[in-house]
Amino acid sequence: MKQIVLLPGDGIGPEIIREARRVLESVAQAYEHQFCFKEALIGGAAIDATGQPLPPETIEACLTSDAILLGAVGGPKWDSIDSSIRPEKGLLGIRKELNLFANLRPVRVMKPLINESALKPEVLEGVDLLIVRELTGGLYFGQPSERRTVDGEDGVVDTLVYKKSEIKRIVHTAFEAARKRQGRVLSVDKANVLESSRLWRETAIEVGKEYPDVLLDHMLVDNAAMQLIREPKQFDVVVTENLFGDILSDEASMISGSIGLLPSASLNDRGLGLYEPVHGSAPDIAGTNTANPLAAIASAAMLLEHSFGLIEEARTIETAIETALINGYRTNDLASDSKKGITTIEMTDAVIQSIQKKAYLS
Ligand code: NAD
Ligand code: IPM
Ligand code: MN
Repeated sequence: MKQIVLLPGDGIGPEIIREARRVLESVAQAYEHQFCFKEALIGGAAIDATGQPLPPETIEACLTSDAILLGAVGGPKWDSIDSSIRPEKGLLGIRKELNLFANLRPVRVMKPLINESALKPEVLEGVDLLIVRELTGGLYFGQPSERRTVDGEDGVVDTLVYKKSEIKRIVHTAFEAARKRQGRVLSVDKANVLESSRLWRETAIEVGKEYPDVLLDHMLVDNAAMQLIREPKQFDVVVTENLFGDILSDEASMISGSIGLLPSASLNDRGLGLYEPVHGSAPDIAGTNTANPLAAIASAAMLLEHSFGLIEEARTIETAIETALINGYRTNDLASDSKKGITTIEMTDAVIQSIQKKAYLS
């Protein structure tokens, strides 16, 4: 029996993870699998219960599991506490602890949303890109990172560190992914300014020689941010460092229609995966049963595909998401009148109904 650790976290985290679990249970029933779920604490919820954002029991539970599904961490309640125990430290900690260096963030445009976007349908048609974000290095983890006196006044230092081996492995991930897609890798950097980006670009070129069948190109990050909106269909696989990938993926979410739609997979080199929506804990709508659960549900589909090899089951969930949208179901983030959306639970019910129908027919 496969064991899935659930890390609901904070804000809308518990609401969407509950729904993703219901979807996984409906898939288990439809395809006769057995998944067993274990919940563990992370983020603000863990701080409240134990005084720390990533208790050792959580790390232990994750290390002995087959896959991990996370909601989101953080919120205003914990914004003013000591920065060493912020909720976000729990998320960064689990990524580092499990060595989850490869963060895959696919961005697709689903037909039923193409006419409802802030972008023109002709810009969106045919977009299918994958952001491969480095997740355990860069400014997020470099030391020192501290407030200190600089030239006699209050100041700060954050440090951007990358080892060549860290760049190499994430670029390899991107090339391998491109081989299964359209065969194009775009490496995004700031090589006109940053030394780290110059090593990044050099390394990408070096690794690229091992993939003569894949086309490698480079783009500066500011231009990439603009091109993502101007002509997103030019992209296939986009590989970039931690912070650039964070920012570009939130931007790219608006190509698919909402931050409430984007899933992600964070993988290590030992086959363990953590799956989570790209969005955060959305404190402004937490507890209202209005969050869009589809990013969490699509993350559960990525879990089935990448950790369990259940490709058909994953496709069934993705098709069910699209069917719910074709049938007109919209949470507030997608609804034209932002007060008229359906609830988190109703959206999940629509997805589950479609999964059950598919299973019944096959
Ligand atoms: P956010 O992604 O939580 O919210 C941004 C906006 O998008 C809000 O208006 C929110 O209501 C909306 N939104 C997000 N997810 C949604 C969903 N599923 N359905 C409908 N609307 C949705 O980003 P933020 O407000 O900058 O951050 C809030 C907190 O979340 C912070 O503490 C931040 O550190 C944390 N955060 C956590 C993660 C994570 O755990 N992976 C990711 C990003 C931000
Ligand atoms: C994300 C989030 C996290 C990040 C935060 C909460 C630490 O924004 O997963 O995209 O910056 O990686
Ligand atoms: Mn982010």
